[in-house]
Order: sequence, then structure tokens, then C-alpha cells
Amino acid sequence: MTRKIGLSAQGRAFLSTLRIGQGEAELERLGLDPEAIGTLLAAGLLEEQGTTMPPADYQDTFGGWRSQKGMLIDDERTLGFDRAIRAQVGPGDRVVDVGTGSGILAMMAARAGADKVYALEVTAMADWAERLAARNGLANMEVVRGDAALFDAGAPVDVLIGEFAGMWFLEEWRHYAAFCQVRDRWLKPQGRVIPSAARLFLSAVDSRKLHHERGWGFFDQPVYGFDFSEVLTSGAHRPARYILSAEWKSIVATQEIARFDFKSGNERDYQFTTETSFLYQASGMFHGFIGHFTLDMAPGQTMSTSCGARETCWHQSYFPMPAIPVPAGQAITARLRSFLTADTEVLKFGITVAGPGQDLNTQAEHVFDLE
Ligand SMILES: C[S@@+](CC[C@H](N)C(=O)[O-])C[C@H]1O[C@@H](n2cnc3c(N)ncnc32)[C@H](O)[C@@H]1O
Repeated sequence: MTRKIGLSAQGRAFLSTLRIGQGEAELERLGLDPEAIGTLLAAGLLEEQGTTMPPADYQDTFGGWRSQKGMLIDDERTLGFDRAIRAQVGPGDRVVDVGTGSGILAMMAARAGADKVYALEVTAMADWAERLAARNGLANMEVVRGDAALFDAGAPVDVLIGEFAGMWFLEEWRHYAAFCQVRDRWLKPQGRVIPSAARLFLSAVDSRKLHHERGWGFFDQPVYGFDFSEVLTSGAHRPARYILSAEWKSIVATQEIARFDFKSGNERDYQFTTETSFLYQASGMFHGFIGHFTLDMAPGQTMSTSCGARETCWHQSYFPMPAIPVPAGQAITARLRSFLTADTEVLKFGITVAGPGQDLNTQAEHVFDLE
């Protein structure tokens, strides 16, 4: 005779406490022993999820006014979000701002007429967001402290807002992971996300100044008459990714290397490998790449961090590479790889480049930390 098995009252109570992203210790405290957790993992009823909780140094940075002001003072960025919010938020909407910081985007959503705005923030800034919402009379804005991935909206929401763009977009992968978890759990099928997509670009750059001051150029030449080249060839010094200010721009050719859809994608999309080439119309030098990105904010509204656009707090990123001369009409080819390492959970970006006539497979990869 087959047994009839159903959920007990205790089981129902247990399931009602389950949340996305709970730690194993918490599950044990709720009554599951490690063996039972193993069985549920094997059956696919539980799954391992990457942590969305940002590390302590990240929380120190975003928990203070220095970084929050650095973002607020960028009016290209902040007014861009305001425009997108005004276009897509209105009366009747329930809105979630994932990673609210000072609360600014949540306040904008409340000003745009939303019925209810949840402002989620993991750092101590949550206290300020709450204080400023009260100061500005925004009674329909509720600040929720803690990892956004654990947020319980109680009912589906209409709009999700997230400003999870890092300096070269990809750095904030953990924040984006939390955004995806809120989206998958609470956003209505026809709901809107702000921004809705991003595109990532690299431009080959020919700049003796950048190469000399921030790239491989300085130790390539005699230093006050002495040979210092071993500093580079030994690997003792590797020029790191450098955030550019407006005066350095010597773009040769630009390629889109990745695009992300925030309505349907997830943080695993941030790990990719692609190959592309950069054509030199006139002869010149290759001194590395400059990276920028664009964000689709609302239908017909795109924000760009390109060299030609108005400067933003993201500026552009310079990835220095050893110099390669490129004759007119020839191209350099690049293999570009974005990946996470299990030990540090820092996103890395690997660049392998072949000049004209070189084989990409025999060239060394240069790996940059995206922090
Ligand atoms: C780039 S800032 C944007 C702040 C604000 N929305 C703005 O546009 O000015 C990202 C914010 O998200 C917060 N954050 C990152 N990951 C989070 C998570 N998992 N849960 C809640 N907040 C998070 C950070 O502490 C930070 O304040």
C-alpha cells in the first residue's frame, strides 16, 4: 500500500520561513540537519546561490557620504535616472529601488507619483535615506535595511530601479545579482526595469602620453639613461586598469563587446569570452584599450559614458597593453574574457592581443582586476 504524504503544519511553517539566499547555518537553525540539506540539494529543491552581500570594504565605501555625494553630484547620471523615472513611474505603481544609497532614486519615484516605493539599502546609508525621506515628507517611501536579495515585497511590483553600474560597468555584479533576485521574485511579468539594458565597448587607443604615464611606455625607454625594462619583463610591475579623466582621448576604433538585458538576464552573463578585431584606417600605434558603456534608461533614452559624451562619475577605463605598431588598413585582434575567481570573488578581465601577422593563440593574456 502506498503511503499518502503531505505537508505537515510544521513543514508549512518551515516553508513559509524560507527565503532566497539563506545561509546554511540559518537552515539548520530552522530545523534542517546537514544530511537533509544535502538530500534537498540533490533533489533540486534547494540550490547553492552566490552571495549578494557586498564585502565589508564595499559597505564602508557606500556607507559614507563621500561616495554617495560623488554619485549625486554627477547630474548627467542622476538627472538621466530622473528622466527615465518620470517616463516610467506613475500613480498606482509599486516601485522598488534596489540599492538606494542616499535614497535619491526612490525619492524621485515617489515624486513621480508612485503609490509605494521600497528603498532597499545594505549599508548604514539606510538611516540617512529614511531620515531624508521623512524630511521631504515622502510618507509612501519605506526604507528596508539589509541585503536586497532577502527583500519581501508582500505583493508583485510594477517597476524596479537599480543603479548597479560600476566604473566599467561589470564591477557591481553582486549588486546586480541581488537586483535579479528581487526581479525574479517580485516584478510583474509586464513590469518595467530602469535601466533595461547595457552595452559594453572597447576602443583601441593610440596615445603616447597614456602609454608613457599609465601604461607600458615608461619602463620601455631608458630611465634617466639606465635600462629599467626588466621591471616589466619580470612581471614585477604590471600597469593596472586606470580611470581616465577628460584630457586623455586618442581613440582609433571601437567595438561593442557585450550586451546585457536586465529584464531577463542575470549576473552570470557578466562572465563571457569574445573575440573581435580593431581596424586601423591610418597607420598608428596600439597602446591598449579604453572602455565605456551605455545604458538604456527608457524607450528612446540612452545614457553614454563614451569619450564623446558629457563626463560622468564613471569616466572611462584605460587597460594598458604593450605597444604594437599597426600599418594602415591592418587590424589588431583581441580575445576578451571576463571571469570570476572562486578565491577572491573579484571580477577579472583578461585581454589577449595579436598585432598584424601574429597568432592570437601564442600571445600572453593580460589580466586586470575590476574592483
Ligand atoms: C552605485 S550606488 C547607487 C546609490 C543610489 N541608488 C544612487 O543612484 O545614487 C549602489 C548602492 O547599492 C547598495 N547595495 C549594493 N548591494 C546591495 C544589496 N545586495 N542590498 C542592498 N543594497 C545594496 C550600495 O550600498 C550602494 O549604496
